[in-house]
Amino acid sequence: MPAIYLDYAATSPIPPAVRDAMLPWFGEGFGNPSSVHGSGRRARNAIEVSRETLAALLRVAPADLIFTSGGTESNFLAISGFEGNGQRVTSPVEHEAVLQPVHGRAGGRVRMVEPNDAGVVAVEDVRPCLTRGAFASFMLVNNELGVVNPVQEIAEACQAVGACLHTDAVQAPAWSDLNLSELGADLVTLSGHKVGGPKGVGLLYVKPGTPFSGVSPGGGQERNRRGGTENVPGIVGFAKAMEILYANPDRSAGLRILNDRLRRGLQETLSDLVEVNTPQSSSAPHIVHVSVPGIPPGSGAEMLILGLDLEGVEVSAGSACASGALNASHVLKALGKEHMASIRYSIGFGTTAHEIDQAVSATRRVIERVLKAL
Ligand SMILES: Cc1ncc(COP(=O)(O)O)c(C=O)c1O
Repeated sequence: MPAIYLDYAATSPIPPAVRDAMLPWFGEGFGNPSSVHGSGRRARNAIEVSRETLAALLRVAPADLIFTSGGTESNFLAISGFEGNGQRVTSPVEHEAVLQPVHGRAGGRVRMVEPNDAGVVAVEDVRPCLTRGAFASFMLVNNELGVVNPVQEIAEACQAVGACLHTDAVQAPAWSDLNLSELGADLVTLSGHKVGGPKGVGLLYVKPGTPFSGVSPGGGQERNRRGGTENVPGIVGFAKAMEILYANPDRSAGLRILNDRLRRGLQETLSDLVEVNTPQSSSAPHIVHVSVPGIPPGSGAEMLILGLDLEGVEVSAGSACASGALNASHVLKALGKEHMASIRYSIGFGTTAHEIDQAVSATRRVIERVLKAL
């Protein structure tokens, strides 16, 4: 029986059309895009066509997109390439790929904005922390909880005082078309493998006029903002994956139906065993995060996730990119839920209603088994 894959927020399967678009660039299209001969020019053209595709989808100019090796690098590039007054403002529920570099260079000049109990940051709490030339970073969709921050409002607050806003929007396009012109953030991070593309590719959008200088040394690629030979097949696959997503602008409706079914199942079958942390409103439809009060994190969570795996259900205990992800994450600590194991269900284009029902009944069986074994 094939596994029921409910871990799209960790990484998404690659649709065949994306794989097919990439394949030639592993074969005859092997050229280095910086070479001036025909092989090089063909590879360069593939990158620039992909850049134009992505820019058109995201409603920005192609020159404002920098290709990187993924979300982690884009976040690092945004933070370390920003030239402001040295003050940084963020929240404790950001991805580690933001938190670590934010603390790295700014020393004590980091202001932390506490989110509410659901993990959402309020613009009223951000505003007093902003100064002219400050760098703020607030993610659009939280990768563990699925909650959505009011990034557009925060961008307006930043603009009003002359601060700049970076947003890690890696988890957003899977369910909603991003329009970066409307969003208003000055720097935006995206990653290929969260949207049906390959791993090892991402982008950073830099709004014109943002005080940003690329910091990645090397051969001057990406207009001197990010050195290193570009990942041609990855970039082509990333653009194709985004094209496929944007061709279905109503995808959130389908995901919402599955999300409702999962919540209903948890409510009807598991309300005595789990607490649902993801609120129904102000959250993205592809993530439902629950805590399991009777089971501790660490070894308890491991029994839970491996038990579900044995039942053919693949989920994660939190953020799969965190090493030791079975221990309580910094996000759960920020919400005071670090003493419980958790399960993050994340769904995508391949998920069916039947799989949701199977996952719910498997979760009940596994939790009961783990509780008995503890
Ligand atoms: C919100 C968020 N930011 C950044 C990343 C890292 O992206 P990548 O794996 O492309 O480096 C992830 C991956 O889980 C993520 O969910």
